[in-house]
Amino acid sequence: MTPETTTGALAPTTTLVHALGAPGGEWWRHAVIYQVYPRSFADGSGDGIGDLPGITARLDHLARLGVDAIWLSPFYRSPQADAGYDVADYRDVDPLFGTLADFDALLERAHGLGLRMIVDLVPNHTSDEHVWFQAALAAGPGSLERARYLFRPGKGADGAEPPNNWNSIFGGPAWTRLPDGEWYLHLFDTRQPDLDWENPEVRAEFEDVLRFWLDKGVDGFRIDVAHGLVKAAGLPDWDGESSMTEGAETAPEDGSMGVVHRGPMFDQEGVHEIYRAWNRVLAAYDGDRALVAEAWVEPLERLARYVRPGEMHQAFNFSFLTTRWDAGALRRIVTASLEASDAVGAPTTWVLSNHDIVRHTSRLGLAEANARPSGIGRGIGRDDEQPDEALGLRRARAASLVMLGLPGSAYLYQGEELGLPEHTTLDDDLRQDPTWWRSGHNERGRDGCRVPLPWAKDEAGFGFSPTGATWLPQPASWAAYALDAQQGVGGSTYETYRNALRLRGELELGTGSLAWVDAMAKVDAESVLAFVNRDVLVLANLGSDPVALPDGATVLHASAALEASDGVTLVPSDTTVWVRLAA
Ligand code: NOJ
Repeated sequence: MTPETTTGALAPTTTLVHALGAPGGEWWRHAVIYQVYPRSFADGSGDGIGDLPGITARLDHLARLGVDAIWLSPFYRSPQADAGYDVADYRDVDPLFGTLADFDALLERAHGLGLRMIVDLVPNHTSDEHVWFQAALAAGPGSLERARYLFRPGKGADGAEPPNNWNSIFGGPAWTRLPDGEWYLHLFDTRQPDLDWENPEVRAEFEDVLRFWLDKGVDGFRIDVAHGLVKAAGLPDWDGESSMTEGAETAPEDGSMGVVHRGPMFDQEGVHEIYRAWNRVLAAYDGDRALVAEAWVEPLERLARYVRPGEMHQAFNFSFLTTRWDAGALRRIVTASLEASDAVGAPTTWVLSNHDIVRHTSRLGLAEANARPSGIGRGIGRDDEQPDEALGLRRARAASLVMLGLPGSAYLYQGEELGLPEHTTLDDDLRQDPTWWRSGHNERGRDGCRVPLPWAKDEAGFGFSPTGATWLPQPASWAAYALDAQQGVGGSTYETYRNALRLRGELELGTGSLAWVDAMAKVDAESVLAFVNRDVLVLANLGSDPVALPDGATVLHASAALEASDGVTLVPSDTTVWVRLAA
């Protein structure tokens, strides 16, 4: 780190950890990317399940919000055993979501609105209904068809014990036995058999799938379980934690929750060769196309290996997502993130919510201040402690303004711009996530963050579908969160996000710098997170007492109303402000 004194009206003493980005550069280095979860964004057909025409009809919302790109979760042909992360045909759209022509129309409309689009690729496993798996079942032990997956004989006298002791991430054993005696590996649900990435046929097939969607014009891919494709030779036993829901129960020193995958099934050296090959596939196309790793890998230096030159372009920053609401912990993770990605010349990403995790509005409203790990499947049920909705929303808005003030690329999960909370009182018999079943009802699963979006406060199903149907029920209190209840309302969560995105673009914060504020008049470093990006001071007050802004501060944006006392501007508890430093 290089100590540096920043001059300006507020003249804080700062420590620079990330220098200004080069002008220009690829779009994904600074983009705000909005995750669309097709089942729950908007329904065009009226069956209560979101679909591609529904998304197309609502794309104006995203353009108006001011995001740069969309990441579309899976919409491929699938029996939906894991909400589409079980793909039966990688080159077709599931009838539930529409047709290939609907996809083309969506992509064209997105591009017409200036929005890039990345799609989800699920290479670790297929659906059990994929033609390859069906052929493997029919062909029997020792066949070439079985060699595309990880079939093995069992252990014990008659092979009745699984080939090793691995557990599925959704709970229960990671192996299922067939009537002919062989077992197959599935790191997730029984209906998601793992492919064998040592098999050249598997590699060739996925390169072809990449080209299929690149030819259609997609701007990139989000790679599911990017750290899981290659397993350690011999598939050795593993006695450590292996499930996302079993992330380290004790928080590591750096303040993150340590929700990370370890063991012989994850982060093997061999995965990098696959991504180098994929990088070459993308590079053969014009424009800037991106590969984004979903890799639950720590420490951050290890994650950065996925985004070395010639490999992927971005990796989700789950260390940031799982960090406690604590100024010191956030400062450490942000520093470590920037240092690790700078070392390989990649942009850092930031993310607070997605379709696998309790929404940050609700995580941050737990009395335990989200002290428990929040890995995949760790939902909240009606028997659990209920989050404080107002506190959670206040903190979530403050956290989002910290995130959007940071240099790099940021991911938003649909509904967070409305301040939507998790559905924490869903009837258990309505749950659809396999985590709920496979964990023996120990983990509530992810349905609570996947509830259909509210668009119109006075309509049935809050305008999600033309018939009022919704595949999961929405809480009645969501009327207040509906888009039409917030549009044009000063200080609403929606307008707060919209302003933040507009300012982030105008001030070029995405390609900006980061210098921590070490000392500034009247600022208590313990409970305040404060950094300078270009000439903007981002200050978050995580403490319980208001913090006074120094004289001469021009407030550009705030996550909540500020207070004033004797001519001094006060930043209340759990509030973030963006302040212009230059005179
Ligand atoms: C990660 C995805 O985000 C999650 O939704 C899915 O269940 C697993 N990978 C398995 O594909």
